[in-house]
Amino acid sequence: MASTPSLPIPDSLLALIRQEVRSQHPYVVPGARPVPVKLNQNESPFDIPEPLKRDLLEAFFDVDFNRYPSEQPIRLMEKLEETLGLPSGSVIVGNGSNELTYTLGMCFVHPGDAVVLPRPMFALYESMVHLHGGKGIGIAPRTDLQFDVEAILAAIDQHKPPLVILTTPNNPTGLAMEFADVEKIVRRAPGFVVIDEAYHEFHTSTSALTLLKTYPNVIVLRTMSKAFGLAGLRLGYMVAQPALITEIMKSRLPFMIDRLAEHVALSLLEHADLVNSRIRTILENTEALKTAMQIRSGIEVLPSQTNFVLFRAERDPSALLNDLADRGVLVRNMGGYPELKGYLRVTSGTLAENKVFLEALDNVLLV
Ligand SMILES: Cc1ncc(COP(=O)(O)O)c(C=O)c1O
Repeated sequence: MASTPSLPIPDSLLALIRQEVRSQHPYVVPGARPVPVKLNQNESPFDIPEPLKRDLLEAFFDVDFNRYPSEQPIRLMEKLEETLGLPSGSVIVGNGSNELTYTLGMCFVHPGDAVVLPRPMFALYESMVHLHGGKGIGIAPRTDLQFDVEAILAAIDQHKPPLVILTTPNNPTGLAMEFADVEKIVRRAPGFVVIDEAYHEFHTSTSALTLLKTYPNVIVLRTMSKAFGLAGLRLGYMVAQPALITEIMKSRLPFMIDRLAEHVALSLLEHADLVNSRIRTILENTEALKTAMQIRSGIEVLPSQTNFVLFRAERDPSALLNDLADRGVLVRNMGGYPELKGYLRVTSGTLAENKVFLEALDNVLLV
């Protein structure tokens, strides 16, 4: 029972909070509730194998909890540079790639700046632009929900934005851009182009990292939350020219990465076979899930180059979500994106989880 009473905040104090902050909403995952089969956040269904997890925690026992970690996780930064064949000083590691989006805002978005944001795009980017006083220039998708590259190029010419954000493969659609189109945008943009590759490991196309050899305005964001299965430890990274990273580093808070997260990430980078075999399994499961959904009548499924599937059925999506949750399976209603009214998103889980989802889907579509 709380003994400190809560006080109302006078308007005069509330008015001191920046309007850009007050007009936002806190990030919440809509419709979340505890169920046995959780397929709503594009997570990996696979935790680290138990013996490895025990070894890691055992080794972690020797870490002094009373000591700060290093200001930046240097060993992990260097390991990522080595693994990806990048020059020294190309990487910043963040507390999840979400956290690095704020670094982008702090470094590149001046009040009133236009930032080109093709739609529908991972919602956090729009909120980051607003919070930093920028103006998101949303670019409507084509009718097939792919980013409209010609419209993006036109907006770049018109607004000369300091920042263009691309996500490929994209969440929430699951669709990837052609590499040639990414390059076209990078070549045309007078400012920086951020390419969020959160789902890159599930897709065979060339990474935007290769553009770093030619273009100084490329910034790539990656995460260890998806293919590496470390969503709970919060690790993402940004890759750019070392000279740019030197500048961006000046905006970074120290000690953002805790020792356990760095320790586990380093170990997983040493266990490439494990990570790759899991990626293969996730891809097989996703393929099987897509096929199973496609052959069911009354469901429309988008092609996916990720670990999730966007779909719609001939039923109200909220009711469908609730009925699925009642049967123990949580998916995500994507109707918060105006372009995706009626759509739901299901993350591909283990074969067993996908089976439970498909059975539940059959059940609720009969209702
Ligand atoms: C496109 C995209 N970028 C970034 C993220 C967040 O990654 P992290 O867990 O590293 O913050 C997500 C998570 O769903 C995503 O879909």
